[in-house]
Amino acid sequence: MANAPRPLVGKVAAVTGGARGIGRATAAALLARGIRVAIGDIDASLAEQTAVELGADTVGLPLDVTSRESFSAFLTETESRLGPLDVLVNNAGIMPVGPFLEESDAIARALVDINLHGVIFGSKLALERFQARGRGHLVNVASIVGKSASPHLATYVATKHAVVGLTEALRMEFASSGIDFSVVMPVGTNTELYSGLQQIRGIKTPEPEDVAEAIVEALQTGRVDVYVPRRMGATIRLAALMPRRVADTISQALGGNDAVTHPDRAVRAAYEQRIGQGMTASDPAQAVGTPAKPGGSPAESQTPEAPDGQPDVSQPEINSPISTPASS
Ligand code: NAI
Repeated sequence: MANAPRPLVGKVAAVTGGARGIGRATAAALLARGIRVAIGDIDASLAEQTAVELGADTVGLPLDVTSRESFSAFLTETESRLGPLDVLVNNAGIMPVGPFLEESDAIARALVDINLHGVIFGSKLALERFQARGRGHLVNVASIVGKSASPHLATYVATKHAVVGLTEALRMEFASSGIDFSVVMPVGTNTELYSGLQQIRGIKTPEPEDVAEAIVEALQTGRVDVYVPRRMGATIRLAALMPRRVADTISQALGGNDAVTHPDRAVRAAYEQRIGQGMTASDPAQAVGTPAKPGGSPAESQTPEAPDGQPDVSQPEINSPISTPASS
């Protein structure tokens, strides 16, 4: 007989990148189960607005996952407003698309900073808290490409494989600690991040709410590997058993290699603009490494300093993070 679902009512969760997309849907799904939720986002005003829209027991806070100081302040503020943290959902991420050789070094660094180092910071800061209490659930949002791959997404794929590996290693290191770990691996999901891209043939594009429900189920059951849709787990396990050539042929037949190689740039423009702006040192309120402190104004946010003590404005070229192939 299946175990009874774990009770969630009254727990406290923090969701990174919760202003929109999968993070927002996750916050809503957690709230619907009686969890008190803090959402943190680099887009601090949207995080606040989303919290107001989601209503009761939600707080929206500024957060830059690439800054330990910002992440620590986010979790401290969450705990002072809502109580001891039970769940951290490391969800914030970006996905620029384009040929590897056209990717700037700055965008590659931003991908690693946000998608991987952000998860490392969050994992350390949450596990310190969880370990002291002998309980907690760390949920890291990776991707189906954390177990597979795709052309035109090489650095993104690398970060997601890293998140899968990180979570697995932490699960081993913290075995018997009372702490649960889940790694979430959705296929392309209907959010701004996936706008203008295609789905693998035969798979219905999930809505962010589908991913959110899978996260709720993981909290209730302790499920470690959370595939969305669920049947992708069997597909990945089967593919791993096949000779490489057979797996490649099947992947091609399903259109897996074309899913992101021919983006509709017009549809994707708003997203690319957003992640470009979010990483521009010329916009201190939004720049990577320039967190708006809780309660602080953009003017109080920290501009990264070069070794000579001057503000570091060495990355403005990533305002246009990825080059746009003329042919797409
Ligand atoms: P989204 O773009 O709709 O939302 C991501 C949120 O993260 C945004 O609100 C953004 O402001 C925030 N964010 C970006 N940089 C940040 C930073 N430095 N600090 C704090 N917040 C930051 O994207 P979506 O689709 O909701 O993605 C969420 C997660 O799910 C990402 O990790 C993504 O890689 C993953 N994922 C998404 C899939 C999809 O097709 N949408 C599929 C598989 C995984």
